[in-house]
Amino acid sequence: MKSEILAALRESESYVSGQELCEKLNVSRTAVWKKIKELQGEGYEIEAVPNRGYRIVGWPDTIAAEEVESRLTTVWAGRPVKYFEEITSTNQYAKRIGEEGAPEGTLVVADEQTQGKGRSGRSWTMPRGTAIAMTLLIRPKLPPSRISMVTLVMGLAVARACRKLYGLPAGIKWPNDVVIHGKKLCGILTELSAEMTYVNYVVIGIGINVNVKQFPEEIQEKATSLFLELGRETGRAELIASCMEYFEGYYEKFIQTGDLSLLMDEYNELLLNRDQKVRVLEPGQEYTGTAQGINQVGELLVVKEDGTRTVVYAGEVSVRGIYGYV
Ligand code: BTN
Repeated sequence: MKSEILAALRESESYVSGQELCEKLNVSRTAVWKKIKELQGEGYEIEAVPNRGYRIVGWPDTIAAEEVESRLTTVWAGRPVKYFEEITSTNQYAKRIGEEGAPEGTLVVADEQTQGKGRSGRSWTMPRGTAIAMTLLIRPKLPPSRISMVTLVMGLAVARACRKLYGLPAGIKWPNDVVIHGKKLCGILTELSAEMTYVNYVVIGIGINVNVKQFPEEIQEKATSLFLELGRETGRAELIASCMEYFEGYYEKFIQTGDLSLLMDEYNELLLNRDQKVRVLEPGQEYTGTAQGINQVGELLVVKEDGTRTVVYAGEVSVRGIYGYV
């Protein structure tokens, strides 16, 4: 009920009467009043004026379930939200509930991770309450070989959300880092549980540096946050909801064809490696070439220095810019 109250207060530019809320939610005035009290206790500034009703004037930067849910415009992505103040890793928890049968679309979010995981066995750390750590559970009816593409779909969704909400020039470093002004804003780690031909579930873990004010010296050159780019704090719940909205739309296109043919033009528009020199580090060989863009299965097309064309598969290699991180 709290998420519906929040949505109703946010939608209205002036006061919303207690009666209106009762009718909308089909509950008593006392029930509404109790929930308003709870929300005030959680940091929402809600004015209550006799004969006029309630008006919201201040929000805490919370990513609690009711705040995120109150902002969702999706049919299934981000429904339900499971919020934790602290957790080992949202991916780890999503895998557990994936095993237990949690529905497609479940979103796990946390203010702090004690064992956050990055790609290639690295750890992923973020200061408490200032970043987004979230994992979306999906159950695609596709063979396991197709799953690495959902990571690109999510990268595209996050980049688009940052462009739309903040007007920032967010782009993608293949396959799925979201980058602004040459520095990494967001990392994505996708994990799956599968049989030879059948996918049981997939978890897509997303870490976004939102209100992070400073990074450790060793990564200052490579990492950025929305705070550092915008010079102000931004609300995390709004960004989560926007990522879910974009992801749901793009994912439906992906499922329609089972590949990225309906999305690759849009992806390539945001691909920062496009027409750039890259160094490809494949197990057993390294070479330099110029990245052309992705094909319909998400592989990166690279023209080697000797003019031969090759495709680079996301699961196997690392691609570095020659003149910097991208
Ligand atoms: C990368 O190395 O670029 C991927 C980082 C992915 C981090 C996110 S934070 C939420 C989710 N839970 C984890 O433990 N990892 C992912």
